[in-house]
Amino acid sequence: MKIDAITTFPHMYDSVMGESMMRLAQEKGLLEFKAHDLRDWAQGVHRKTDDYPYGGGCGLVMMCDPIFKAVEDVLGYEAGSLPEGRRERGDDGATVIFMAPVGKTFDDSLACKLAKKERLVFVCGHYEGIDERAYSLADEVISIGDYVLTGGELASMVVIDAVVRKIEGVLGAEGGAETESFADGLLEYPQYTRPRSFRGMDVPEILLSGHHANIAEWRHAQSVERTRALRPDLLEQDNRPSSCASAH
Ligand code: ADE
Repeated sequence: MKIDAITTFPHMYDSVMGESMMRLAQEKGLLEFKAHDLRDWAQGVHRKTDDYPYGGGCGLVMMCDPIFKAVEDVLGYEAGSLPEGRRERGDDGATVIFMAPVGKTFDDSLACKLAKKERLVFVCGHYEGIDERAYSLADEVISIGDYVLTGGELASMVVIDAVVRKIEGVLGAEGGAETESFADGLLEYPQYTRPRSFRGMDVPEILLSGHHANIAEWRHAQSVERTRALRPDLLEQDNRPSSCASAH
């Protein structure tokens, strides 16, 4: 998969994309990632990417011109070829995603859907928002929750992490993306490792039994009990996150 992020703060991605699974995914050749500085498409000596809002109000709004140029360039379109912000959706194999609190709330089924794409291009806003006309470039507008961050960069990294770990081969055999929380609409069962006893808290006997069928049954029961206690909403049919296999 190829992922691009268009941002005024490209270095925000350095640590997240340069460590752990995100770094391994790139080293394994499963992910190609690049953060682009939006200022490279801005004009003037100050390379301005934002301006005062029409109609007044506080804060600055990100201008659509550099965003259009950046998206055109990153997607390999000729500059000025998207005068009305229209391209045939999906024709270029890319999904353009704007990160904003007004977007669709991100969840596991959206992560599954995005993990099947060849290319994702994230556009990250800052300040008071983005000129509305730029949204005509978006295939998806995604929010990571009902709160406002100072910019879309952290939000895009949350989405990138959740998507990339679903790409086949990223987690490796022991990764177990199928058994974790939400994969089957339930929260994950409790896990334990050594020591067997720690400060008076013991590992449940059944996990030491070596009886795989009983362990699987116990784990499923724990998942159901935990989901009922912590996230009863997930047990309602309509709220069930769909598994990756059925995401489309
Ligand atoms: N930008 C600012 N807040 C955000 C949020 N909650 N989700 C996505 N992008 C954002």
